[in-house]
Amino acid sequence: MSYKLPAIIGLQSKDESESDKENLQASQNYVYAGIMLVILSIIANTYFAVKGSPWEAHLLEWLNIVIRVMHITFGIAWIGASFYFVFLENALNRTENIREELAGNLWAVHGGGFYYLEKYKVAPKTIPKHLHWFKYEAYFTWLSGFCLLFVVYYFNASAFLIDKTVLDITGTQGILIGVGSFILGWMIYDLMCKSPLIKKQVWFVLLGFALLVGFAYFYNQVFSARAAYIHFGAMIGGLMVANVFFVIIPAQKAMVKAAKEGLPLDPQLGKNALSRSIHNNYFTLPVLFVMVSNHFPSTFGYKYQWLILALITLGAAGVKHYLNLREKNEKSVWVMPISALILLSASFISAPAKNPEECKSEISFIEVNNIIQKRCISCHSAQPTDEINKVAPNGVKYDTPDQIVVKKNLILQRVVITKTMPQNNITGMTPEERDVIRCWIEQGASLN
Ligand code: HEC
Repeated sequence: MSYKLPAIIGLQSKDESESDKENLQASQNYVYAGIMLVILSIIANTYFAVKGSPWEAHLLEWLNIVIRVMHITFGIAWIGASFYFVFLENALNRTENIREELAGNLWAVHGGGFYYLEKYKVAPKTIPKHLHWFKYEAYFTWLSGFCLLFVVYYFNASAFLIDKTVLDITGTQGILIGVGSFILGWMIYDLMCKSPLIKKQVWFVLLGFALLVGFAYFYNQVFSARAAYIHFGAMIGGLMVANVFFVIIPAQKAMVKAAKEGLPLDPQLGKNALSRSIHNNYFTLPVLFVMVSNHFPSTFGYKYQWLILALITLGAAGVKHYLNLREKNEKSVWVMPISALILLSASFISAPAKNPEECKSEISFIEVNNIIQKRCISCHSAQPTDEINKVAPNGVKYDTPDQIVVKKNLILQRVVITKTMPQNNITGMTPEERDVIRCWIEQGASLN
């Protein structure tokens, strides 16, 4: 392949021919890939250089935010495109003034311009030279998500992935179980899609749902609360990307190839791709809900997490079903209220129980402060002594009485109601101590 340096740096002349432009595009991609590799190796080298120093936490935090923003951005691009095409499919005009070769068309106005779009029943007679593919959004969402999983959970697996009170395994074992579960999930799901079961829609959905709940239950028995949540979301997200990579894109490539060579198209290819695409459509909202709820302890702090995950999955998929029905102008009276009820039931079930015991004596602040100094200060201090948290997590410090009192509601939430602090109860807080904190807050959290 030949390319010109002035072209790469953007100094191309106006009479550039078509093939020059393509060469330019290709060579630009190589340059970008090279730059990416250099950046990645700089990051990896920096990580090993600062490992064990106070800069490690700082570097991980920056990696966390940069990769997180990338993950969200790619995710928006992917899900946005996916929602848009499902909308097109649902909203196509399939009846009025349609040419024989078309499945439908659609007029739209957006951004101050009018758009007209046609969908072919099978394929146009000649495949156009410039055909836009949608795939990198999905691949990069997966790639950034996988990196994020490493930065947040796998780099410090013994602290974030593993909770010894749930299951006493090493970080490496945890990572292998996590990654292995993604592969296993895909293998089972893919087999289900290729089996005759796919034709029996109701059974397919029931079995698929039971399988998901099974995975939720499994993660619940193996990982720390937050890690269990993120693995459930990542597993379904993985199914979605694998659908794009292993089924949808290869089917489209085969269809384009057959059309170019004038061979008959295998309609099954398109059908397979469409059914995977529909599954992805129903997966999107559950995955988004799970990814976000992973930041809210009243969801992942509940004892029977798998139940909350099951209800979220069902309710969120129900909401998507409602949106699909609306786009198709079909009747949908009960779908939305039932889905909302299912989601609401998750919040009812996980609500804290009424306090069983009355607080007997007046609790003094000294008592509370002793507990906090013993159980929390190793992380939540201006100078943490914890192995992993080298700066106070979320800026929450308990060095002075004031710092404790102003955070009393958050403390109640994390220590008494959801019991998600101390993190994985690494400092061994007892139920009696949690009760002292509860009574102190119920009695008005005074500093006496
Ligand atoms: C091993 C380190 C560690 C210990 C010990 C620990 N925490 Fe935390 N804490 C964290 C981390 C990490 C976060 C941020 C992640 C999260 O919210 O789960 C956090 C977050 C919190 C938050 C939420 C702050 C916010 O802005 O949402 C509260 C409240 C909290 N901790 C209270 C406590 C209390 C009270 C104790 C002692 C009973 C305690 N923590 C012990 C590591 C720790």
